[in-house]
Amino acid sequence: MDEDLFKTVEEVFNSATVSAVLELCRRKVIYELKGVISAGKESRVYWGKSFNNEDIAVKIYLTSTAEFRKSMVKYIMGDPRFKKIPKSTRKLVIMWASKEFRNLRLMYDAGITVPRPIAQYENILVMEFLGIDGVRAPLLKEVELDVEELRYVFKHLVDDIRRMYLYAGLVHGDLSEYNVMLYNGKPYIIDVSQAVKISHPNAYDLLIRDVSNLIRYFNGLGVNTPSLESMLNYITGKGSLEDLME
Ligand SMILES: Nc1ncnc2c1ncn2[C@@H]1O[C@H](COP(=O)(O)OP(=O)(O)OP(=O)(O)O)[C@@H](O)[C@H]1O
Ligand SMILES: [Mg+2]
Repeated sequence: MDEDLFKTVEEVFNSATVSAVLELCRRKVIYELKGVISAGKESRVYWGKSFNNEDIAVKIYLTSTAEFRKSMVKYIMGDPRFKKIPKSTRKLVIMWASKEFRNLRLMYDAGITVPRPIAQYENILVMEFLGIDGVRAPLLKEVELDVEELRYVFKHLVDDIRRMYLYAGLVHGDLSEYNVMLYNGKPYIIDVSQAVKISHPNAYDLLIRDVSNLIRYFNGLGVNTPSLESMLNYITGKGSLEDLME
């Protein structure tokens, strides 16, 4: 076991989580976990292998910290899919993982470029691995692109946000250059646990924040973006594509 993997083992792998990993092995979803990709406050992402020897990404939510309880509750309350908020932190975290899986499924089925969802069990989410030979693809934040490439990525993202709104009925809610990975020449939207239904009371404010983030980022890199208003009109189905970037 390498050192990085060892460091994160104790925090994540309490006995319930170990049992959940073993259950996913028994179900032939996970063949092995190979290494840590990312160690955030709320989750760890591992590179693993499936029984078909395909690379998989395994996101394991920490159930031992109550730190993000407040923010989880904010995004779960008001979502018709989740009526009762569990008192136990572990149960709430499992609900959060199931929310991410369902959001990913809805997005994937709507044709949005997101990692293909594979399985979710308790606090563990398994999805397509974006990367090669265990090396993850870069985040949008980490790459240098020329203006033509940036325009392409921007338009792709705007079209995916539109699809998300119109066909998946969701708003991402935490969209930024840190939650987009560039893989196979396309921008993949990741980290969808906090995405809310468009009927959620905060959905429109979150959409404004997501779109403003994109405008800020791409404008800052020299892309001539449309106004916030015309982008919102386009995304919500009120304006046409011609209005976008001439
Ligand atoms: N499907 C995937 N394939 C490869 N790498 C991934 C995948 N999903 C996530 N990652 C990597 O793991 C990191 C964290 O994932 P994600 O953004 O979903 O979690 P997070 O809750 O935001 O974690 P953090 O607190 O670290 O930001 C990503 O920045 C990316 O580097
Ligand atoms: Mg993230």
